Amino acid sequence: MSFLLPKSQERPTQQPPRRVEPASIIAVGSGKGGVGKTFMSITMASAFAQAGRRTLLIDGDLGLANVDVQLGIAPETDLAAVVAGWVELEDAVTEVDGGSGNGGFDVLPGRSGSGALAELSSEEVARLAAGLSALALQYDQVVLDLGAGIEANCMRLARAADKVVMIVTDEPTSMTDAYAFIKVLKGYAPNVEQVIAINQADTRAGGQRTYEAIARACQTFLGFRPPLAGTVMRDKAVREAIRSQRTLISTDPSAQPIMDAIAIAHTLLGRSGQDLEY
Ligand SMILES: Nc1ncnc2c1ncn2[C@@H]1O[C@H](COP(=O)(O)OP(=O)(O)OP(=O)(O)O)[C@@H](O)[C@H]1O
Ligand SMILES: [Mg+2]
Repeated sequence: MSFLLPKSQERPTQQPPRRVEPASIIAVGSGKGGVGKTFMSITMASAFAQAGRRTLLIDGDLGLANVDVQLGIAPETDLAAVVAGWVELEDAVTEVDGGSGNGGFDVLPGRSGSGALAELSSEEVARLAAGLSALALQYDQVVLDLGAGIEANCMRLARAADKVVMIVTDEPTSMTDAYAFIKVLKGYAPNVEQVIAINQADTRAGGQRTYEAIARACQTFLGFRPPLAGTVMRDKAVREAIRSQRTLISTDPSAQPIMDAIAIAHTLLGRSGQDLEY
């Protein structure tokens, strides 16, 4: 499969030249669906780009991709075309304008309803992950928006990350599914750092309680306590922005969930997990 061999030349791009350190790959996972992974992935990718990092956002939701829908773009090519052998991996990347005052970044879109992506074999996903890791060398920062669930192919993609941000809401199903994800990933890829971000919190104290509950379960049953990267407040503006297919960070950068998500991105950029507050 030739898509596993990204070209050695740098593509022309409007993004800043990358620094010499290898890219940091941050995967965004959850277990339960619909908790805000894609919203957080897009907002954090924008925040990284605004911070001057050459950034790639990958839609790793194989089969039910929707990064392109939330961004309001209609990419000419995507991961499904790569898997079909029509384009090379790095040529499936689309540039996204960050809007006025915002940094642009690159997107590797998926394709919703693609049986070819949803039904990749374990070997194909492992090779795709290796190809994505090679492509990541052209960037400072990569954000990998994972699909919901704890299936093996989701874990195979997550294993390519340096760090996984678990998005958790206060719903018991979100908390139990996130715990299941953390447990499975810890067994499958113990070296991948795991941190937690609470989304759709009604109060800061409520967010802290949600974090404490899941962190305590991890400490008790898994023997480690994933740090808290931050809490994002619930705001109906998020839903409205997604409905209008315009990113909230470009239309209302001072909205509370945007400021919260940017703070999380800066925490992830500026400090290692060991430095985060426990
Ligand atoms: N901070 C927030 N405040 C209010 N609503 C939110 C917030 N974050 C997410 N949502 C709501 O949750 C919905 C799902 O968000 P999103 O698509 O980002 O989740 P997801 O985890 O990527 O879902 P999937 O598992 O289907 O990929 C959004 O359409 C929005 O209505
Ligand atoms: Mg999603």
